Amino acid sequence: MSLRVFVSRDLPPGPLDALRAAGAEVSVHPHDRPATRAELLAGVAEADALLSQLVDAVDAELLAAAPRLRLVANYAVGYDNVDVAVASARGVAVSNTPGVLSETTAEHTLALILALTRRVVEADAYVRAGRWTGWSPQLLLGTGLNGKTLGILGLGRIGRAVARRARAFGVNLLYTGRTQRAPAESEGASWVPLEELLERADVLTIHCPLNDQTRHLLDAERLRLLRPSAYLVNMARGEVVHEAALVEALEAGRLAGAALDVFEREPEVHPGLIGRPDVVLAPHLGSATVETRTAMAQIAVDNVLDLLAGEPPRTCVNPEVL
Ligand code: DGY
Repeated sequence: MSLRVFVSRDLPPGPLDALRAAGAEVSVHPHDRPATRAELLAGVAEADALLSQLVDAVDAELLAAAPRLRLVANYAVGYDNVDVAVASARGVAVSNTPGVLSETTAEHTLALILALTRRVVEADAYVRAGRWTGWSPQLLLGTGLNGKTLGILGLGRIGRAVARRARAFGVNLLYTGRTQRAPAESEGASWVPLEELLERADVLTIHCPLNDQTRHLLDAERLRLLRPSAYLVNMARGEVVHEAALVEALEAGRLAGAALDVFEREPEVHPGLIGRPDVVLAPHLGSATVETRTAMAQIAVDNVLDLLAGEPPRTCVNPEVL
């Protein structure tokens, strides 16, 4: 019997054809919206592999509803939407899409940092509203990056790609994370404890995975350690930052601004963020280029092709099941 693959959302064209050509029975969720829970449960019922999205909760209930499942190929580098412990206990491999999105996400990070510190979104709205009456010495002044301190929370692949780019802007680089890297691997960034990172950063940029240690890592207490002149940028997962506490900090003037690519309850955005000119909002676009989204689809598909070929899925995150 051929391998049955359920794809929970259509992907950029190309990679899925390779799966079909290899003889897999590919069924793609037919709507241009995330699969509902019922659709997901129905989709996996007969599937050997699930090509999932970061918005799909691949939890104990879903895994139990998929007795044939051998692989969850998650279309993202983050896999906090998958209960890996339960998958492992059921002998289901889980794969992600590392590497191909680091540079792209770093580009977007720099875009948001610059948009925030140089008030690009505000300036655009100002011109479009017909409010511009001519050059003025004090119009929409921003904050320069040269000589400032960029604090990187999580110096993994993406954090390092951010550091490489940020160096060209003349910033001093500090980072914190689980691993203190050797100088040759830290892109010129110096490790400091989290509290010190928060106290010293002019711009704090977040790139750590979401897990039990990082959920609400930036809570009200830690947000208070940031200086009132500091900016916060979240490119990781919304739940790393306590969104209501962030809104409170902004409202109280305890933070200069924030750029958010991710939110606690996507696609909901805290109403306190919406009207603020000192906040830049993006709908989870870190990896959103044609090239990268296609490369991510290719890796996800390659993992399924590996399964089909009886090989270990190449970017398996729970290799103990193999
Ligand atoms: C990921 O891959 O985890 C990003 O959030 C989306 O590309």
